Amino acid sequence: MAREGLIGDPSRWPRGSRERVQGQVNTDSHELMLTGRTCTDLLPPRRWTESRVWGIVLAVAYCLVAVAPLTLALVLNGGLRENKLLELGRGAALLGFTLLTLQVVLAGRFKRLDAPFGLDKLMQFHKLMAVLAVVLLLAHPILLSFGFGTFSLLAENTPWPIDLGKAALAWGFITVIFALLFESFGVDYNVWRVVHKSALLIPVLGFIHSTRVGTDLVTHAPLRGLWWVLILAAGGLFLFRNTYIPLWGRRRFRVSDIRRETHDTWSLRFVPTDGRPLPPNPGQFMFLRPVRPGRKSQTHPFTIAASPLEPGIIATTIKKSGNFTNTIDQPHPGDVGRIEGPFGRFSLVHYDIERFPFVAGGVGITPIMSMLRYLRDTGDRRPVVLLCGNKTARDILFASELEQLPSHLRVVHVLSRPDETWAGPSGHIS
Ligand SMILES: Cc1cc2nc3c(=O)[nH]c(=O)nc-3n(C[C@H](O)[C@H](O)[C@H](O)COP(=O)(O)OP(=O)(O)OC[C@H]3O[C@@H](n4cnc5c(N)ncnc54)[C@H](O)[C@@H]3O)c2cc1C
Ligand code: HEM
Ligand code: HEM
Repeated sequence: MAREGLIGDPSRWPRGSRERVQGQVNTDSHELMLTGRTCTDLLPPRRWTESRVWGIVLAVAYCLVAVAPLTLALVLNGGLRENKLLELGRGAALLGFTLLTLQVVLAGRFKRLDAPFGLDKLMQFHKLMAVLAVVLLLAHPILLSFGFGTFSLLAENTPWPIDLGKAALAWGFITVIFALLFESFGVDYNVWRVVHKSALLIPVLGFIHSTRVGTDLVTHAPLRGLWWVLILAAGGLFLFRNTYIPLWGRRRFRVSDIRRETHDTWSLRFVPTDGRPLPPNPGQFMFLRPVRPGRKSQTHPFTIAASPLEPGIIATTIKKSGNFTNTIDQPHPGDVGRIEGPFGRFSLVHYDIERFPFVAGGVGITPIMSMLRYLRDTGDRRPVVLLCGNKTARDILFASELEQLPSHLRVVHVLSRPDETWAGPSGHIS
């Protein structure tokens, strides 16, 4: 059944278009054909938080905050003092501590930070800054010891504020090593996540330590003020992330449909309980927590695989691949899912190019499927070639939908373990 008319509510389209667009919606298949438009024509101006300028503003703000205490100490001391090694040791601590407090901002999954960079880049930076902070804080007592001309700081019997500094440094080391290697220790990702939150203790212990023994912090009230601002902001953001967001910051959606796609993959469709759609860019993902009393309820990232032009529908396709996803066939229609998002920069809307080469493996096709659906539904004529890798033919996701795509959206399936009936290319895509 086809229906002419307005496609969804443009005020809720991705990137906030206010354009009225005419087209046809096939209400049975959810297919939508726009008349005389291309995807590019439909793309409204970007959200301001996705712009390069906002990214630069954030990067500059990060650098300014990171060096603020160091600069303030230099100004208040009227420049560098006599003993350069002591100055370096104190400077390393001031910078290292500030980087520790900023870690909460980088890892907090804040949408305004995700929009210009993407969460993956933010987490890579979080990792890099963790290593830098720990190196600076390791250098701090060593430089101080050279500056003082004695290594008594490193002895066993030190006053308790110094012991707190040592404990903070040890916890910093353990945190970084564990974060980098937890999978090799056989630890579950979700257990690691919870343990990793204890990293907040590192700046807290460092704060108590430094306000007791730090010459600059004891002498200069403005620096002490800035120190309080940093630790309270880090603590506040941490509480916001871990109490406010889980309780009130995630939207409620109801499972409207569960469908088996392949032997180990299921699609779930959700509708918002408040009727307000969640408008993603094609290719973006969300954090989903199914609320299923008596069954596993955990928060995990999943791609929003539906076309963003399907009004009010969030669909995701999930492969059984671990502790939580193995239970993905357990939701019942009517169950509630708490959704946070959309997140991510992996979307064709950020690339103004003539043709799209895509490569996908297994369930990794989901963000690309969302983009293909978007290109198809908007009638965009730009050519696409998708190399789609799977083990066997029964693993191919969305097989019939891919077959029915318009001819300029070309899909080449490559199987690594084909059976004798397979006539297409085989091997690994590299
Ligand atoms: C941006 C993004 C989009 C994704 N989209 C899809 C999708 O559309 N369909 C799909 O089937 N899968 C998707 N995944 C993968 C999916 O999130 C993992 O398969 C799932 O979290 C595994 O959880 P588990 O408890 O079943 O597995 P586990 O046995 O706990 O872990 C298997 C592996 O999954 C990873 N993992 C586990 N929990 C998380 C988590 N909370 N966050 C990040 N990684 C985790 C770990 O590296 C772990 O080694 C996506 C992942 C990301 C990061
Ligand atoms: C001393 C160094 C570190 C500090 C102080 C730190 C701090 C934090 C904090 C406080 C959070 C939780 C944010 C929140 O829930 O509000 C967090 C999350 C995270 N950190 Fe770190 N971190 C450090 C090192 C690392 C390293 C080395 C890695 C990776 C190798 C890492 C990866 C992550 C990831 C992936 C998350 C998100 C976890 C999730 O919620 O799924 N961190 N970090
Ligand atoms: C994560 C770990 C640590 C953090 C965050 C940290 C942080 C700080 C900070 C910010 C200062 C104040 C600098 C100033 O006032 O200019 C300081 C001072 C000091 N720290 Fe640490 N520190 C840590 C570990 C250690 C360790 C392990 C030791 C010794 C073994 C140590 C010994 C000292 C001493 C002696 C001072 C006083 C220096 C002075 O001003 O004369 N710290 N620390």
